[in-house]
Order: sequence, then structure tokens, then C-alpha cells
Amino acid sequence: MATTSVLTAITRRLEGKVAMITGGASGIGECTAKLFANHGAKVIIADVQDQLGYSVVDAIGSSNSSYVHCDITDESQIKNAIDQTVSTHGKLDIMLNNAGISGENNPHIINSTKANFERVLSVNVTGVFLGIKHAARVMIPARSGSIISTASINSQVGGIASHAYCSSKHAVLGLTRNAAVELGQFGIRVNCLSPYALATPMATKFFRHGDEELENLTHSLGVLKDVKLKAEDVANAALYLASDEAKYVSGHNLFIDGAFSIVNGSSAMLQNPDS
Ligand SMILES: NC(=O)c1ccc[n+]([C@@H]2O[C@H](COP(=O)([O-])OP(=O)(O)OC[C@H]3O[C@@H](n4cnc5c(N)ncnc54)[C@H](O)[C@@H]3O)[C@@H](O)[C@H]2O)c1
Repeated sequence: MATTSVLTAITRRLEGKVAMITGGASGIGECTAKLFANHGAKVIIADVQDQLGYSVVDAIGSSNSSYVHCDITDESQIKNAIDQTVSTHGKLDIMLNNAGISGENNPHIINSTKANFERVLSVNVTGVFLGIKHAARVMIPARSGSIISTASINSQVGGIASHAYCSSKHAVLGLTRNAAVELGQFGIRVNCLSPYALATPMATKFFRHGDEELENLTHSLGVLKDVKLKAEDVANAALYLASDEAKYVSGHNLFIDGAFSIVNGSSAMLQNPDS
């Protein structure tokens, strides 16, 4: 490979690819949309916050990004968004099912409402199911594609969020694994991302903290010190799974949590490293 093409491969890891990002108007999705576009992808932002969505397109540039209003809980909207993408760009290479909600911050099951439980599952699970379904519909004939969903450390760990949110993220992992097994025969990879808590509009509202306050709190509870988790770190993990560098990675739950989810809190050795 000539030096220029090696450099292009490093700096433009999604050159020529078409990516849809749900929840791309804010937080992790917004950051990932910008990163994917910098790496040469055409990015379609699908969200319900139209004004924010269009401002992300303004920031990226309309030659390599666009916005579509899409409520992921409505099958006709997600089907239309994907069909519109294929008719404009000829294909869909990457589907990032990232849109999600936290729901009520309520740890007690007896005070948790059925309405909140169903609302969280509707966005975080049904929305992801529909995203995987309609991405697969257009990727199967192409016999390639990368489907990524944003889960959470709550896909594995219990007791750190509401029952609704924890259940929903466990379900995202289940959907990821099932779809990876089914769609592998068509050359489609299916993975998910599991970030630890980071400052985004969703998280600051949920924890009722400002950005810095939330960062300091999660940093103090985290394992990995001297570094704070940012949306860029999650976007970089999504970039890897979306790119051809991950061409044999499927059915994987990629944790971006600085080892938080593997610690057993009762480990005295870790609390007293010098004793
Ligand atoms: N921030 C964290 O600490 C954290 C940690 C782990 C996982 N996550 C997950 O990351 C994902 C992104 O969240 P974020 O933290 O960037 O929050 P965010 O609120 O900044 O972004 C979420 C986006 O999803 C959109 N959205 C919500 N409901 C939608 C619907 N029905 N249809 C289409 N779009 C919809 C919102 O409008 C918003 O733009 C979520 O799935 C969340 O559960 C977040």
C-alpha cells in the first residue's frame, strides 16, 4: 500500500460508507455523527429533536450529513427513514441504534409505575428492535452491514439504575446476540456498546447534576483513575465497530467503562492495595 493510501485508511476509516444514527441530535449520538463524518461517512441523523438535529447538520455540513425526523417507537417512521436513506445514497452500511431515554429515577419497584416501565422499554427496546429489523431488511440483499446499538453497563450490572432502564439494556444485549447469530449468514455484524455514566443531557437530567458534578461523581466511583469518560470515547468505540477493522467482530458487547462492571465491590484487596 502506498504511503498516501495508508494515511487515508487511518484518517478516513469510514470512507464511502453510509451511516444512520438514531438519537444523533444530542450527547453520544451527536458526537458520533461528527466523528463518523470526519472519517468520510455520509451521516443521517434520525431523532425527534428537530431543531437540535438540524444544528448538528449545520455543524457537520450538508454535503455529508442530513436530518430526518424519526420517532424510533413508530415502525412506519423508522421504515421510511431507512428507505429514504437507501433511495438517496443507494445503501445503508452502518446502523447505530443509539436513541434512548432514562425514564424516572426511581430505585424502588413498589413505587415504579407501569407507564414508566412501558415507556422506557418502548424507546430502548422496541426502538432498537425496529432499528435492527429495518436495517437488516436493506442490508440482507447487500450481504453486508454493521449494526451497533448503545446499551450500557446496565446490560450486565444490576442495582445501579431503575428496574425499567436496567431491564431495557439487558434486552438490548439479548437482541444484539440473537440478531448477530441470525444475520451472520448474510455478512452482517451486530454489536453493542456499554458505556459507564457520562455527562450528556440525558444523564445530567437523570442524576440532577451539572456536567462537572456528574463527571466528578462517576470518576470517584469508577475504577480507572486520572481519566474521565467523555462522549468521544464512546464515539471512538462505535467507530471501531463500524469500520472494516472490526470485520470479524460480531455479537460483542464492548464495554467503555474503565473496568467498572467487572469489579466485585466486596474486594478488600482493591480497597487497601498497600496492606
Ligand atoms: N449518558 C450516559 O451516562 C449513558 C451511559 C450508558 C448508555 N447511555 C445510552 O446512550 C444513548 C444515548 O444517550 P445520551 O446519554 O447521549 O442522551 P441524550 O439525551 O443526549 O441523547 C439521546 C437522544 O435520543 C433521542 N431520542 C429519545 N427518544 C427518541 C425516540 N423515541 N426516537 C428518536 N430519538 C429519540 C433524544 O431526542 C436525544 O437526542 C442512550 O441509549 C443511553 O441509554 C448513556
